[in-house]
Amino acid sequence: MAKASPQFTCTECGAAHKKWAGKCDACGAWNSIVEEAPLSTGPASKTLGAAKGRRIELSTLAADEAPPPRTRSGMIEFDRVLGGGLVPASAILVGGDPGIGKSTLLLQAVANFARSGLKCLYISGEEASAQVRMRAGRLGLSEAPVQLGAETNLRNILTTLEAERPDLVVIDSIQTMWADMVEAAPGSVSQVRAAAHELVTFAKTRGVSVILVGHVTKEGQIAGPRVVEHMVDTVLYFEGERGHQFRILRAVKNRFGPASEIGVFEMTGAGLAEVANPSALFLSERGQAAPGSAVFAGIEGTRPVLTEIQALVAPSSLASPRRTVVGLDSGRVSTILAVLESRCGIPFTGLDVFLNVAGGMKVLEPAADLALAAALLSAREDVALPPDLVIFGEISLSAALRPVGQAENRLKEAEKLGFSQAIAPQGTKVEGGAGMRLRKLPDLVTFVGDMFGAG
Ligand code: TYD
Ligand code: MG
Repeated sequence: MAKASPQFTCTECGAAHKKWAGKCDACGAWNSIVEEAPLSTGPASKTLGAAKGRRIELSTLAADEAPPPRTRSGMIEFDRVLGGGLVPASAILVGGDPGIGKSTLLLQAVANFARSGLKCLYISGEEASAQVRMRAGRLGLSEAPVQLGAETNLRNILTTLEAERPDLVVIDSIQTMWADMVEAAPGSVSQVRAAAHELVTFAKTRGVSVILVGHVTKEGQIAGPRVVEHMVDTVLYFEGERGHQFRILRAVKNRFGPASEIGVFEMTGAGLAEVANPSALFLSERGQAAPGSAVFAGIEGTRPVLTEIQALVAPSSLASPRRTVVGLDSGRVSTILAVLESRCGIPFTGLDVFLNVAGGMKVLEPAADLALAAALLSAREDVALPPDLVIFGEISLSAALRPVGQAENRLKEAEKLGFSQAIAPQGTKVEGGAGMRLRKLPDLVTFVGDMFGAG
């Protein structure tokens, strides 16, 4: 057999390259390309030829089937992110940094699914069964009818699954699995891809739901979870700051529910506790009205979440001043700084800018533009905004304010949390209620004049 030429693969996104390069053209990651044995060593240049295949059965779009029956774990935050519970025969990827709490979350979830009647298997490739049992003991889950296995050989796992026929299996983690037909080290792109493919195919054909755990990797040698994102039905990321106890489970892809839905958890001594009212949590550390703080009424998935955007503006000693942004899109921040400078005449040259979303939350909605600008201006002018004010709205490059969706939900949530005034773009369809004074402004210049005097 002819020896196949080596292949180079990006460990971040899985793109194939002919030769090594420092940067992956496909995803822009640096130093992520590694040499790997090709996926298939067979001759790839052959075409299918003239031999006929089996004719596949086609059907119409009209469905008489009911929507898939879902099983709820009883962990409301987890079920919501799944789109209302677990769909049978679905494949789910849960990604996150090492140590963020993925194993803890899934052990709790799987124990709850087992208690609600599903036959559940938890296969750990990283920890010994005794370790998982110890953690279950600490979490008070020892009684849950979950079956544990410690194994990394995919063939053994599939054989076990075939015999056991569980409803749900958790594979912790996909990077530790190895398939013996692939000649590559565990954790390499070809191994991770092959293992995920086998498991997902098994899930689809045998009606087993499978949850794959994937570590987000910082440097090149181990394949990241993005390599398998396209194979699964649902992609969830578990995020949060290591120093903070808040954790956010975010759906970035979901074939069975809304994407960008979030679930909020708090890491406690007894595992992850659900946070029923995230807005109250994110605002709980807010002190008295201080310059540089603005409250944004946002929407995460299907529910409103209020967050505090904090800004600090200080004279810079650097030739190109700092722009440090945590939890917000830095491109968006640059755009707003440029709009403030050229449309409103408020320059930030010679000033360091630090921006942060309190509580370790990520806010990526364009609707946060106005709150972001308000925090920046409030910090720059050293003037505190009213403590009972929420803000939302998108800023266009012309400095006009553009209305955003779900204004009513945003206002309702704000009112529920005791806010009594709001600022929104001119075209916003709703009116303020009895407990909420709503001001609608046409552009950023009016906003600056209104809040901070004539600028
Ligand atoms: P783990 O679930 O092992 O993370 P991952 O699987 O994502 O690598 O969680 C690890 C961290 O969680 C560890 O630093 C300790 C912490 N932790 C708690 O604070 N409380 C708990 O009850 C448990 C089980 C873990
Ligand atoms: Mg783990």
